Formats: sequence, structure tokens, C-alpha cells
Amino acid sequence: MSQHYLAAPDRFETERFVLRSYFPGDGAILTEAVESSYDHLAPWMPWAQPSQPQALSEQLARQFRGRYLLATDFVIAVVSPGGDKLLGGTGFHLRHGGLESHTAEIGMWIRASEAGQGLGTAVLEAMLQWGFTQWPWERLVWHCNGKNIASTRTAQKAGLRLEGTLKGVRTEGEIRDTLLFGILKDEWGAQTPPA
Ligand SMILES: CC(C)(COP(=O)(O)OP(=O)(O)OC[C@H]1O[C@@H](n2cnc3c(N)ncnc32)[C@H](O)[C@@H]1OP(=O)(O)O)[C@@H](O)C(=O)NCCC(=O)NCCS
Repeated sequence: MSQHYLAAPDRFETERFVLRSYFPGDGAILTEAVESSYDHLAPWMPWAQPSQPQALSEQLARQFRGRYLLATDFVIAVVSPGGDKLLGGTGFHLRHGGLESHTAEIGMWIRASEAGQGLGTAVLEAMLQWGFTQWPWERLVWHCNGKNIASTRTAQKAGLRLEGTLKGVRTEGEIRDTLLFGILKDEWGAQTPPA
């Protein structure tokens, strides 16, 4: 497989949700999901706004699709099995080197109406399974604000290991601790029974 380009997998299905690339036409479901989740997202996601016009969401969806095809960033939608509702967002982000690093950072948000019901943990587990079986990742990481209990617990429950803590990080107008979680493909394979 080329180290510089990836014909990325487009879709991973479970009974509860589908992980897929964003596509043109996703603007409406993206606006509905993020606007209805503003209070839930705002403390942790700097991009959250009380109002996100559909035209902006449509532009974002097209940018996400473009970068996915260019293999520069993989922003992923979490959609209902029927495809009519956006349940959240996740992604494999190249923040620690290019494709040749075989490393991606997973980010995630779950819409307010679905949060706290095990979905985030299930999505992260699916991202590990998909990432280590159909993508070229050898190492997957998850970074979170030390104050974000839900994010910390989600990483722990999905089997990621706390690798360290960056203390007193000045970012986005605050001073915080950043927790660094990670898991290697071999570690994941050792703790996951074959399908
Ligand atoms: C973090 C997030 C993705 C987790 O998804 P989720 O579907 O809510 O998570 P789950 O229901 O699988 O719960 C996972 C753990 O988090 C805990 N949790 C969930 N919401 C919580 C909350 N508001 N406060 C404290 N703990 C919470 C759950 O109790 C569970 O832990 P437990 O088994 O020890 O009780 C979701 O809450 C979210 O979108 N938060 C806002 C955006 C965000 O912070 N993203 C992560 C950035 S790193």
C-alpha cells in the first residue's frame, strides 16, 4: 500500500449505527444535529455554535468529503441505520504524522439526545475494530481535556491505555491538563476475540 495515498474505506455498519464518509447533501442532518446539541457540545468542542446555517454545514460536508478522497483527513459521520439522522461525528485525523506514520487520532462527539447511553463507547470500539482491520493504522490515539469525565471514561471503557498527561497546556483560552490515550494494533488484537 502506498505510504502517501490511501483509497480509504467508506463505510462500516453495525446494528445500531453506520460509520461513513460525509457526502454532498449532508448539510441538513449536520445542522440539525449540532444545533440541537449546542449546550452539550460547547464546553468541549470549540467549533460548536448556537446557530450553524445549513449552507455552512453543506460546505463543511463537501470539504470533509474532499479531504477524505485526497487522503489528508478522514472526518466520519455516525448515522442511524436508515441514514436519516446524524447521531454524531468521529474521524481518523492525521495529527501525528502523515499516512506513513500509520497513526491516527480519533475524535468524537455524540448528539445530546443520544449521549450517556453507551453510544460513544460503542462507536469508539467500532472505530478500533474498523481502524485496525480495514485501515492501515498501527497506532490509534485519543486526546482529551482532563476535566472531560465522559471522554476519559469512553477511552478507558473502549480499552485505550493512558500513556501520559500533558500538564498545564494553554489552549483555546484556558489552562488545562491533556490526557493522552493510545492503543497499538497488537494490543487491540490481544484483547479482542477474532470475529
Ligand atoms: C464524550 C462523548 C463522545 C461520550 O459519548 P457518550 O455516548 O456520552 O458515552 P457513553 O454513554 O458510552 O458513556 C461512556 C462513559 O462516560 C460517562 N459519561 C457519559 N456522559 C457523562 C457526563 N455528562 N458526565 C460524566 N460522565 C459521563 C458514562 O457514564 C460512561 O462511564 P461509566 O460507564 O463509568 O458510567 C459524548 O459525551 C460527547 O459528545 N461529549 C461532548 C463532546 C466531547 O467531549 N467529545 C470528546 C472530545 S475528546
